[in-house]
Amino acid sequence: MDGNGRWAKARGMPRVAGHRAGAKAVRRCIEAAIDQGVEWLTLFAFSSENWRRPEGEVMELTGLLRQYLRSEVADLTKNGVRFRVIGDRERFSPDLRAELEAAESKTAAGTRLNLTLALSYGGRSEIVAAARAMAEAAQSGAIDIRDLDEEGFARFLSTAAMPDPDLLIRTSGERRLSNFLLWQCAYAELVFMDVLWPDFDAAHLAAALAEFSRRERRYGARVT
Ligand code: IPE
Ligand code: MG
Repeated sequence: MDGNGRWAKARGMPRVAGHRAGAKAVRRCIEAAIDQGVEWLTLFAFSSENWRRPEGEVMELTGLLRQYLRSEVADLTKNGVRFRVIGDRERFSPDLRAELEAAESKTAAGTRLNLTLALSYGGRSEIVAAARAMAEAAQSGAIDIRDLDEEGFARFLSTAAMPDPDLLIRTSGERRLSNFLLWQCAYAELVFMDVLWPDFDAAHLAAALAEFSRRERRYGARVT
């Protein structure tokens, strides 16, 4: 979800106004995903690199997250959305962590849309953490390292309960992965859109899904 700052700047508004509009776009995008039959939606809300932003902006972003949880969890539950978090949640304050956990448990019965928020998330550090956990499991004898394959390794990632993404959408015209789901996106179709995140709506999602459906996915196999 990229482009909040530029959206605000174009209107002569402070960056936080862009983040607020971005939070509204999140709500819109979730509704659109449900309407359009998407079952898994993962939003990159805050990267491990975003901690390097000025303290004021980090505070505004965590404040917005808290507000979002307080205002949306009831609706998420009602709409059958199951909420999960991936990322290094230890870096958030204990009370925010508790709110994230509460949101996860309140929505645990949801079956219409699996919504995952990537928070303080970085793909490389996730892979390192998985390697560490795997090494520990090998050391304790819980796994035999010689049996390990790709599927076995993926079970140590924070996304163990999730399917790999089919489609990755990046907004705001940037053409990078920026350390997002590096392992999991090995075969994802990448769609880059020029729209700034706060302007993202149901039509943009539909356009990305239409583009996805035109792609031919071969997973390295030959064209027949
Ligand atoms: C995305 O918008 C929101 C977060 C990364 C939290 P940006 O804040 O990156 O907006 P730009 O890239 O400056 O426009
Ligand atoms: Mg950006």
